[in-house]
Amino acid sequence: MNKPKRYTITSALPYTNGPIHIGHLAGVYVPADIYARFLRLTGNDVVFIGGSDEHGVPITIKAKNEGVSPQDVVDKYHAIIKKSFEEFGISFDNYSRTSAKIHHETASEFFKTLYDKGEFIEETSAQLYDEEANQFLADRFVTGTCPKCGNEEAYGDQCEKCGTSLNATDLINPKSAITGNVPTLKETKHWYLPLDRHEDFLKEWILEGHKKDWKPNVYGQVKSWIDDGLRPRAVTRDLDWGIPVPVEGGEGKVLYVWFDAPIGYISSTKEWAAREGKDWEPYWKSEDTKLVHFIGKDNIVFHCIIFPVMLKREGSFILPDNVPANEFLNLEGNKLSTSKNWAVWLPDYLLEFPNQQDVLRYALTANAPETKDNDFTWKDFQARNNNELVAIFGNFINRVVVLTNKYYEGVVPNLNACSQIDEETLAAVKAYPDVIASSIERYRFREAQQELMNLARLGNKYLADEEPWKVIKVDEARTQTIMYVALQIASALATLSEPFLPFTSNKLKNILNVSSSDSTQENCIENSWNDISSKEVLLPSGHKIGQAELLFSKIEDDTIQFQLDKLEASKKSNEAANKKVDPQKDTITFEDFTKLDIRVGTILEAEKMPKAKKLLVLKVDTGIDVRTIVSGIAESFTPEEIVGKRVTVLVNLAPRELRGVVSQGMILMTENAEGKLVFVNPDDANVENGLHIS
Ligand code: 2FM
Ligand code: ZN
Repeated sequence: MNKPKRYTITSALPYTNGPIHIGHLAGVYVPADIYARFLRLTGNDVVFIGGSDEHGVPITIKAKNEGVSPQDVVDKYHAIIKKSFEEFGISFDNYSRTSAKIHHETASEFFKTLYDKGEFIEETSAQLYDEEANQFLADRFVTGTCPKCGNEEAYGDQCEKCGTSLNATDLINPKSAITGNVPTLKETKHWYLPLDRHEDFLKEWILEGHKKDWKPNVYGQVKSWIDDGLRPRAVTRDLDWGIPVPVEGGEGKVLYVWFDAPIGYISSTKEWAAREGKDWEPYWKSEDTKLVHFIGKDNIVFHCIIFPVMLKREGSFILPDNVPANEFLNLEGNKLSTSKNWAVWLPDYLLEFPNQQDVLRYALTANAPETKDNDFTWKDFQARNNNELVAIFGNFINRVVVLTNKYYEGVVPNLNACSQIDEETLAAVKAYPDVIASSIERYRFREAQQELMNLARLGNKYLADEEPWKVIKVDEARTQTIMYVALQIASALATLSEPFLPFTSNKLKNILNVSSSDSTQENCIENSWNDISSKEVLLPSGHKIGQAELLFSKIEDDTIQFQLDKLEASKKSNEAANKKVDPQKDTITFEDFTKLDIRVGTILEAEKMPKAKKLLVLKVDTGIDVRTIVSGIAESFTPEEIVGKRVTVLVNLAPRELRGVVSQGMILMTENAEGKLVFVNPDDANVENGLHIS
């Protein structure tokens, strides 16, 4: 499209069934925020939209588990999530929620418009039903095997493993997530959006129209769905939590959460416009608006197929220009998981790393899953901070500010005669805004941030090569020039870092005494993004800067170890919680028990049974006699390590011949947490062989 007149930027509305973790930030909100901040800084008309997704099954399930109402759940997490976004500098122009009245009205109206235009199919069909819970099972109320990839934990609306969008009745071996029961089938009426009728539109719009500008991971997924053939998709549900279906026959039913949630972007824009005294419509209806959806890869089908079909068929809306979905972020090699508490939660992070939001933003962008799944590790986080933010960015700024204060009482010195290197350096600085912009405009945020760091590297190298701390002893005029040039680089960094490191940028602007978001001084110097290239001078001679303040501080090994220990503890408690214990066997009588003759014994000899991988032939002193016992423990123990071992033996087990050797008893064994065989061992040395165990 030609240069847009305005931008509508949306970021996926998070479900309000838990706090936000690093995966959410890395996948959606930090890239969206970088993009929005950059566009504002470059003078564009931008609305950056967010909000909470408060309907849907995950919320109902959470409420059920906690014994509270769904409204209680969404109120609690909406507040927590909103606060996290504010704390991490996600600069939404509006953060709404789908339980808001304006959203209920907007979504109902949207549904009615499509209904009145005959865009839905009305169909009564047999759907999965949980008799015990008295509940139809759709979406996350039902799990089963994905018919496409065989994942046994696919949900009734989507398989998270292969990304396929499913109908609950597609699942093989479905199971109710409420009771664990196998569902029955029961007839119910729903409204369906016939996606199959819109294949031609989707092919032309995406497959032909966006082959070059959409990310290959997004384009590839969409193409594969379209190539597989689209099917009608139910847009209503038999639930009591959600937006009531606003047409006749819809009583007791609600809109499918994925029908109402993306309309939440529109309602949030309306809320913003009403507050700001603006007209919301051009942001959604004008062809010169660029609409961009930031999402994670599990949301691709909804934003690239279902929502666009809804917008198109409604008739008055524009379509997204791009949907730069990210892949997933893992944590220390494992999939992030809310239920397994395998995550770094934002509220926890801030308690443990107070005021270090930019470090996390930086590490997540440096390692963003832009083209493939990526791994967040605490060691990488530490290295990014210590070796890049502290050693490059922070070090450069600190040297410039300290030396300017030391040599010139904080006043920017004169630019005297310029050497070739000075001129080249000043010219190089001017090139950065365009270089970084070009990466951001192509949604390559990692690359953009690397370029920002290259500017800090340029500053560091310039100072290291020009050595003002040596030159000051011999050439006063030359030192002034060096410091002047270094101060221009610092000023460029203050502006260009804003999209990536907003807190640092603000702090640096305050140190340099240039206009920042919390400037109190009037007539402060103001440098926009484009000024970095076009202005002759960013910090003029005579301008007074402030004192040095540390922008970043080193993160020590023990701080990182604490985080790793926390994750390890989480893993352990998870394993314990998920440990499958065999169900108890049928009850026996005391008489049954007394039939077992269990004694303490000692292994006297052990050798491998020829040609048997699993068997050892043991000579065991049972206190009654020394007898042969064949035991299936050869894969866990060598003969040498068990000779002399005290063991527990069932001595009156009927003799049994194994590969020609008669075994006269059984050594009692169990399995430890790692699944390794261990002896049920009478470790007390005072227990003599032959003693009964009772
Ligand atoms: O996957 C999710 O967390 C959804 N709540 C995203 C919704 S995005 C939009 F459509 F609202
Ligand atoms: Zn699958």
